[in-house]
Amino acid sequence: MNDLLGIAGSVSNPSNTRTAVEAALKAAENEFGISTKLLHLAEYDIEVADGRKLKDYTGDTAEALELIINSKAFIIGTPVYRGSYSGVLKNLFDLIPRGMWQSDKAPLENKAVGLIATGATYHHYLSISHELGPILNFFGSHVVGSGVYAESSHFDNYELKGEEIEKRLAVLGKATTELSLAVEKSKYLSELGPQF
Ligand SMILES: Cc1cc2nc3c(=O)[nH]c(=O)nc-3n(C[C@H](O)[C@H](O)[C@H](O)COP(=O)(O)O)c2cc1C
Repeated sequence: MNDLLGIAGSVSNPSNTRTAVEAALKAAENEFGISTKLLHLAEYDIEVADGRKLKDYTGDTAEALELIINSKAFIIGTPVYRGSYSGVLKNLFDLIPRGMWQSDKAPLENKAVGLIATGATYHHYLSISHELGPILNFFGSHVVGSGVYAESSHFDNYELKGEEIEKRLAVLGKATTELSLAVEKSKYLSELGPQF
């Protein structure tokens, strides 16, 4: 089982979102000595969700879903597109089972999730809580704090620029790991899940 999976929900490569997600993963790895992996959607040829059972997906789609199912906690990052998260990330959410008709697996249920969004400007910083937050509630995840929003001035040629954003991403990675450990040890936090 992988301890922390970073999902970079962008098909661009290089990618600001990937850079931000990687910074959070690295900080968590350094602080807690945990295992981390990255799923950057630019590197996977993912099929469009069409209602198939989990077992009927093959190739990159099956590989990506396997990685998610075999991870204990998540840093999920998206570029902001039209004030919301990317279409490819939505498609991935549509593919991830919730323990119902697709499969009995529910890989995001009762799992710690840290959220990141990267945009051109500050205007869409609420997309983390208003757009990404609700879908993680739907999965019954435990979302960490308010997440991290990074915009153009925080990047220079796809590298992070500035201590403040580096620190915030590092704290997100560590906090997501702390929450994951707390949920794992808990009696009730690990049981609630979504009602329906
Ligand atoms: C189709 C499209 C729509 C976008 N919409 C927004 C937007 O609504 N608000 C914003 O701040 N940036 C927007 N952007 C800019 C990207 O969110 C920003 O450049 C992001 O950091 C790109 O991340 P990436 O390098 O990981 O793909 C948009 C970019 C594209 C390509």
